[in-house]
Amino acid sequence: MIRVDNLNMHFGGIRAVDGASIEIAKGSITGLIGPNGAGKTTLFNVIAGHYTPTSGHVYLDGEDVTGLSPHELFHQGLLRTFQIAHEFSTLTVRENLMMVPDNQPGETLWDTWFKSGTVRAREAEVRAKADEVIEFLEISHVANELAGNLSGGQKKLLELGRTMMVDAKIVFLDEVGAGVNRTLLNTIGDAILRLNRERGYTFCMIEHDMDFIGRLCDPVIVMAEGKVLTVGKPDEVMANEAVIEAYLGRGLKNKPQRGVTA
Ligand SMILES: Nc1ncnc2c1ncn2[C@@H]1O[C@H](COP(=O)(O)OP(=O)(O)O)[C@@H](O)[C@H]1O
Ligand SMILES: [Mg+2]
Repeated sequence: MIRVDNLNMHFGGIRAVDGASIEIAKGSITGLIGPNGAGKTTLFNVIAGHYTPTSGHVYLDGEDVTGLSPHELFHQGLLRTFQIAHEFSTLTVRENLMMVPDNQPGETLWDTWFKSGTVRAREAEVRAKADEVIEFLEISHVANELAGNLSGGQKKLLELGRTMMVDAKIVFLDEVGAGVNRTLLNTIGDAILRLNRERGYTFCMIEHDMDFIGRLCDPVIVMAEGKVLTVGKPDEVMANEAVIEAYLGRGLKNKPQRGVTA
């Protein structure tokens, strides 16, 4: 579904992504791991259209989408969540879902509908969709809560919910499990698995928690210093000498962790 071919993203002298090539198969939940500073988020930013790469190409379903804007990619079904949740804190959970910003400053699907002149019918439709998402994620008890009052984990769940408001083909999750307690992490994991199996979503997720990765992802791509080190099943990559080296070389504190991540 996604093919990244010999991608470079340099910031001055920093080679954040340095000749990386990856493939994400349709229907997969592909993991992306690596020590801090490996270039994972930058790779996401290039794929999702936030940066135009220094060189290299990104293909979506065989079509070259390099340099398209996040807005254009959004309309092709490519969505991402952010490492730091992007909720509207003064709106309720339901209202947040009903907004679904599509990365275009000042323009939301809501505006588009508003302009269409069929406001009421649309609003009912969008509300029904939001309620379906709320039910799917089992967050009915906070549907009318201001998003700013949610726990960190609930905000991550809301981020995931926002990707369900449109027909996503592929969703990029940047540390959706970071700072989330074990119970909510299981809820998020279950939601990802169900979206994958029941609704055909393809996922690519950056994560540090290896239990979480091991449960959800196949394959796992390992990056270090802007390059792809290896690709394989979770257990294979964790046993790989070069992977262990890459993590140790950066200090023990950046090792992938078992259990809840900080
Ligand atoms: N906008 C930017 N300008 C300059 N350097 C950046 C920028 N974004 C990321 N970097 C650098 O690129 C490298 C990779 O960062 P990042 O992609 O955030 O890694 P990861 O997500 O794997 O921790 C780091 O050295 C980081 O400081
Ligand atoms: Mg990152």
